[in-house]
Amino acid sequence: MSQRLTINQNTKPIYDIVYESDFSKLAEELEKFDIISKKLCIVTDSKVEGLYAAEVKNALEGHCKEVKVFAFPEGEKSKNLDTVKDIYTFLIENKFERKDMLIALGGGVVGDTTGFVAATYLRGVDFIQIPTTLLAQVDSSVGGKTGVDFDQYKNMVGAFYMPKLVYMNISVLNSLDDRQFYSGMAEVMKYGLIKNASFYEWIIENMYEIHDRNLDVLEDMVVKSCTYKKLVVEKDPTEKGERAILNFGHTIGHAIEKAKNFELLHGECVALGCVAAAFISWKRELLSKDEYYEIRDMFVPFNLPISVEDINPEEILQLTTSDKKMEGDHIKFILLKKVGKAVIDNTVTKEEILNGINEIYFSEEDWDE
Ligand code: GLY
Repeated sequence: MSQRLTINQNTKPIYDIVYESDFSKLAEELEKFDIISKKLCIVTDSKVEGLYAAEVKNALEGHCKEVKVFAFPEGEKSKNLDTVKDIYTFLIENKFERKDMLIALGGGVVGDTTGFVAATYLRGVDFIQIPTTLLAQVDSSVGGKTGVDFDQYKNMVGAFYMPKLVYMNISVLNSLDDRQFYSGMAEVMKYGLIKNASFYEWIIENMYEIHDRNLDVLEDMVVKSCTYKKLVVEKDPTEKGERAILNFGHTIGHAIEKAKNFELLHGECVALGCVAAAFISWKRELLSKDEYYEIRDMFVPFNLPISVEDINPEEILQLTTSDKKMEGDHIKFILLKKVGKAVIDNTVTKEEILNGINEIYFSEEDWDE
């Protein structure tokens, strides 16, 4: 434990990601930002509040001017401008000033929403991320994407805004229920698929340790995942180009997430989206048939879905084209050339996308076969 990665921009260090096994180093890390003169607001959700808010508050009390806690109802349905307004109101009522600091304690919804508030409240206040889900640790807390959903559009309103620090307590991964944990595994597998075949092999070789939530292996896995993310976001922090490969599986995944009214978790939808995108890659002869089936079937031992019932493929197609990954009439689609190598493609047709959706759609007719 006690590892550290630094995210740089133009060779200038921007923020550190620290990996610990508890919250005991949090105050020491934050003292570097002169918190003795600052008020801190821990923003969290109703679930994480009960698990970690008191512990984090206690760890910080006495090291800063004051610590407040604001919690909103858990779940993707809270990721909207109403929650942003509630947080602004709390900050205004509690007289938070520009020099004060927000702490996002929770999963992706908490991190993205709090980050957006930090980017906009008083034209920007400092914030740090304390991600408490695997998904947030390996993906959403790193790279400075913040924002909320708007009507049916996911992550439609937001800002690139960097945290001052990402503090990861790896042991929190033990408190996740299985579904949440494996949802995060979809993003981990994504890094192997898009960036590094050896890491993909490593995940498979360490499958049993991962199932057992061996903390040393999980730390290794989280650090490796963040290292791949670091490589991408340092080169392209605002997604002008290469960063889009991180959206592998997300175009169709986001559409399913929305169509299913968030009944399925983000990572479950990403796994489905990865299968559909790998299918399209096979049909374009970028992947072989065997490679496609191996990629598809490897989600199964990680308890991730490779097919979905009760969807309308046409509706999913329609939702993919209202995604913010559109460039004019074209969708920026991520395909695989091989395990470990993703490519951005602007020529994928609606018909190909529909074929990909049909591949993962488990319909009543499939029962009869
Ligand atoms: N989650 C994708 C990205 O940060 O770009």
